[in-house]
Amino acid sequence: MKFIKKTSVKLMILTIFMSCTSPASEKFDNSESLRNRADDFGIIIGAAVEQSHLSELKYSETLKTQFNCVISENNMKFSFMQPNEGSFSFENSDNLVDYAIENDMKVRGHVFLWHSDYQIPDWVKNKQYSQLKGVIENHVSGGMRHFNDKIYAWDVANEIVLDSGAGLRNRTLSGGDYSVWASSLYDDSVIRSAFYKADSVRKEIGDDVGLYLCDYSNETKGQPKSDKFYEIVEDWVNDGVPIDGVGFQMHLMEKYTPDYINIKAQIDRFQNLGLDVQFTEIDVRIEEPFTRTKLLNQAEIYAQILRIAKEKNIKSYLVWGVTDKYSWIPSTFNGYGSGLLFDEEYQAKPAYFELLEELK
Ligand code: XIL
Repeated sequence: MKFIKKTSVKLMILTIFMSCTSPASEKFDNSESLRNRADDFGIIIGAAVEQSHLSELKYSETLKTQFNCVISENNMKFSFMQPNEGSFSFENSDNLVDYAIENDMKVRGHVFLWHSDYQIPDWVKNKQYSQLKGVIENHVSGGMRHFNDKIYAWDVANEIVLDSGAGLRNRTLSGGDYSVWASSLYDDSVIRSAFYKADSVRKEIGDDVGLYLCDYSNETKGQPKSDKFYEIVEDWVNDGVPIDGVGFQMHLMEKYTPDYINIKAQIDRFQNLGLDVQFTEIDVRIEEPFTRTKLLNQAEIYAQILRIAKEKNIKSYLVWGVTDKYSWIPSTFNGYGSGLLFDEEYQAKPAYFELLEELK
């Protein structure tokens, strides 16, 4: 059985390497995969997955050969998980969890509390603010009890900080700044209660799942949003809010070189608070046209982030999708794409080979 598995893994890698025209591919031993190498480093290398794509052979093969962790791209979000009050829907996410277990992969839970309008059901939007503490507590409790010990980390809350760094997204604001979950720039009581509930449920069920707060553009010390994100988390830690760590999503752009020094400084200050740091939604989007030079530049950014992970003992390096074919980027950022490790035909890109090299 073991032999069969290994053989098919090798075939898979061989296919990827043989069909890759990149000269960079020639210098690699084709008997390994990202996942095998990451295992040796104790690094969780994951990909966001849309459960409905698992039936596509190339998708599934690439996923299970190259990654040792899955994150549900959408199905564990509020409107999918509890579309009607008190009525949870777990079918799609259960399928993904079963797939992960079958293939010896970890699962990250994403996400209980998020502002994004399309994923909050109307019944939640129609509640009074004073009712939302109960709503989020039931939601967290329902989700955690269902998945029990199958999930290694939960994104308990996501994207609570305004891009300007002025404070929390909240009900007094509009557009992307609106969030049902806070009543003002400063009132994080409902968000905190999600963490308290998650903590009490995990203790009750004897689960050691990690509890995380995630955001984008929160990874660079000295920038208003990153600094506000830090301030909020520091307050929580001082107040004893049960949070184990923070997620830096890392939705990056190839045309801007990240400020690696201040990324490290941001990691340091969270680690000094006693918190874990994870990279939870990495992609590096490229502006059209997708030239070879840009792909190489992208590869360097992916590699540099992995170098930082190794240097700072960051154990989760998670990318936001398996293949450019299904990436959220083109439909979200006009004129951008090609942000992931595998292209639309599942060919490994220079970033993939750079990561392999980095994990040697
Ligand atoms: C995105 C998904 O990739 C899309 O399929 C969906 O339409 C919108 O959400 N930050 C997050 C993720 O925390 O949940 C988002 O995922 C991308 C940005």
